[in-house]
Amino acid sequence: MLHHLSLVYLYNMSNKVAVGKSLGKIILLGEHSVVYGEPAIAIPFPSAEITTTITESDSVSLKCFNYDGQLADAPEVLLGLKTVIEKTFDEINQPLENVAINIESTIPAERGMGSSAAVANATVRAIYNYFNMQLSEQTLLKLVDISEKIVHGNPSGLDASIVVKERPLYYIKGQDFEQFSFSMDAYLIVADTGEKGNTKFAVSEVRKKYDSDDKYKQYVAQLGTLVNNAREVFIEKNPVKLGTIMNEAQSYLSALGVSNATIDNLVFTSLLHGALGAKLTGGGLGGCMIALVQDETVAKRVSEALITAGAHDTWVMKMESKGEI
Ligand code: MEV
Repeated sequence: MLHHLSLVYLYNMSNKVAVGKSLGKIILLGEHSVVYGEPAIAIPFPSAEITTTITESDSVSLKCFNYDGQLADAPEVLLGLKTVIEKTFDEINQPLENVAINIESTIPAERGMGSSAAVANATVRAIYNYFNMQLSEQTLLKLVDISEKIVHGNPSGLDASIVVKERPLYYIKGQDFEQFSFSMDAYLIVADTGEKGNTKFAVSEVRKKYDSDDKYKQYVAQLGTLVNNAREVFIEKNPVKLGTIMNEAQSYLSALGVSNATIDNLVFTSLLHGALGAKLTGGGLGGCMIALVQDETVAKRVSEALITAGAHDTWVMKMESKGEI
């Protein structure tokens, strides 16, 4: 499959300009356990959008989150992005020169919504568009994965897959992706704790636990079982059962040490105000949490309660798969 979707290629005055876009992602279930070969369910998150714009320039510069300078001087935290830019230019046999790369995001960085994978995805697409070259899904995945390995250490590949595919996925590391429908009569609230998560750190902490005690291996296996139970619930379209599964998943994620007091407080607040289930999403230890609610009225009430309880932002989306299955 070739990507033409995000192709925007224009001439601005005499300068060449190209744009690449990416959506973020929400992991509904299976974060962390997916690293150990268990399944996960993730959906694209349209409220989180990354746009990379490339313009002709007399040097190679990068403007991204808090950095504005030469690509060569980019800080360590941007190493994944810097590397993916270099590798993409290598891939298309172009010298890395005379480009200004500007990345804008509707979401803050490190909130567990896939911003590192999304930034890489948008940027690779923009570079291909700049040179008017066709980009296969396979090459895009390979390039985004290079960045993810640097940013996250040993990623499952889930974040890269979801931002590249832009489809709800049932995902098992190393296996073919399975697209599915997550439509059901319910709403999902996403809340930003306002705290930066650190996926690399969270993944390495879980690894230490997993290697040290069999009980953690059992928690990981239980998380996998919950994902498979949820898959049946999506066929049944039963939000109440899905909420219960989310609550159980949150207990195991807490037992693995990736929740924290801020997330716990927002989970508690959601349930108190009528959510069917609530849990962290993504790497945890900050970042975002999600809550499932039955209807728009409860969604509004829970969103307001989350903001009062300290959430920096909330987004509400209908549980609706668009254009597939
Ligand atoms: C991070 O968005 C998801 C994790 O499961 C890590 C991974 O899948 O590589 C925590």
